[in-house]
Amino acid sequence: MGGKGVNPVTMRGLLDDWENRGLLYRVKREVDPRYELGAIINAKNGAQPFLFEKIKGYQSSLAAGLGGDRELLADSIGISPSDFVPKIIDSIVNPIKTTLKETGPVHENVVTGKFDLLDLFPIPTFHADDSGAYYVSGILVVKDLSGRKRYTSIRRMQYLGGNRTNILITSPELQEQYAQFEKLGEPMEVAVMFGVVPAVVLSSQISTHLYHTDKLDVAGALLGQSLDVVKCKTIDLEVLSDAEIVLEGRMLPHEREMEGPFGELAGYYGFRSPQPVVEFSAVTFRDNAINQTIFPSSYEERLPMALVREATLFSTVRQVVPSIKAVHIPMGGVARYHAVIQIEKKTEGDGKQAALAAFASDKDLKHVVVVNDDVDIFDSEDVEWAVATRVQADNDVFIVPGGKGSPLESSHNLRGVTAKMGIDATYPLGQEEMFKRTSVPFEINLEDYL
Ligand SMILES: Cc1cc2nc3c(=O)[nH]c(=O)nc-3n(C[C@H](O)[C@H](O)[C@H](O)COP(=O)(O)O)c2cc1C
Repeated sequence: MGGKGVNPVTMRGLLDDWENRGLLYRVKREVDPRYELGAIINAKNGAQPFLFEKIKGYQSSLAAGLGGDRELLADSIGISPSDFVPKIIDSIVNPIKTTLKETGPVHENVVTGKFDLLDLFPIPTFHADDSGAYYVSGILVVKDLSGRKRYTSIRRMQYLGGNRTNILITSPELQEQYAQFEKLGEPMEVAVMFGVVPAVVLSSQISTHLYHTDKLDVAGALLGQSLDVVKCKTIDLEVLSDAEIVLEGRMLPHEREMEGPFGELAGYYGFRSPQPVVEFSAVTFRDNAINQTIFPSSYEERLPMALVREATLFSTVRQVVPSIKAVHIPMGGVARYHAVIQIEKKTEGDGKQAALAAFASDKDLKHVVVVNDDVDIFDSEDVEWAVATRVQADNDVFIVPGGKGSPLESSHNLRGVTAKMGIDATYPLGQEEMFKRTSVPFEINLEDYL
């Protein structure tokens, strides 16, 4: 549970809470945003909350690693780590609407007119071969052409100099919406929020085309209260009133600049390609703003993606295997290519059926392992043990060639399609005695003996 029993809805509140409980690392030494910052965050895989007090060349502090650890992310929304799936599903079904306020802390400082983004706040450079400095963690707010559908996501933005970046959009839905504006020769307005709690990052990863929910409302439900928003100063969008920093701008029609290479989710460099350009018209920020970043491909990028995928996967597989107990999309499978599914096996065939349902639910999945409910699916060694002791490859492994795959996946890109491999690591029904795990019938507390 959150330390005070109430979930902090501001990043400052969360940092205070974690610092009071000894969970935050404070870095007092000056850190260079070019490589050094990333090296420190990456040393803990994006799973350790850091507050950097001094970034070279800037007055502002910077937070990172807030949402890369399952237990801490659960703590930030006041649940236990085993409750993510029901909590996410419930928050999508029962969102809590944002509350529009006249003004808020994010408007304590407003910069408009001519400015250079780099003069205001640092933009980190992460990997050896990256093409330059990138915003990686900003929560993008957009509305569709009708102005009725508002939603958030995260899209990396390469600094192009002055008040311009480009933006990489891989989701068909946002690509399509931008294309509609472009067809009319109109810019698409965007706001980018930095300095938010992990629940806002988590909800931004919910699939727009699956749920059509306002993801800020879902974040409110995750946190158990309505989040305050304010109208932007130069565009017709709303942003969280407690965000630390907001960039307001427009994706320009018919303008592209080269983007990449950049170190992506799977640990490879993405190709160089022309991408849309964003021109910013305002930067607003709180007094003593605390900047925020995420190390690309670290757990902090992977975990929110994995958690929302787990929720979708669980609901889909449950439709055909109602005795499903839990799902895990592990970090090692890049938070999208591997899944482990735990079932209480009721009928022969449940194992393969669960794997088939998983592949139908998510085109990105490549390898799915199904295990009985005596296996800890969050312990990769225990899953490997089940594969080692309960699988005969000729019977229990099936391969579907030529399926659809993730555009981010290198071997898929090479061949154009992806094979799907299901491993049924459940034991045959009726053989509970044969597959009973050994145990020692004596409860001890080791410390009593040392
Ligand atoms: C840290 C982080 C960085 C991301 N960077 C990008 C990106 O550069 N481009 C992109 O299209 N998606 C990126 N994503 C994934 C999208 O944010 C994700 O697909 C989206 O929020 C899901 O909603 P959608 O259905 O609206 O795409 C990133 C996700 C995270 C957590």
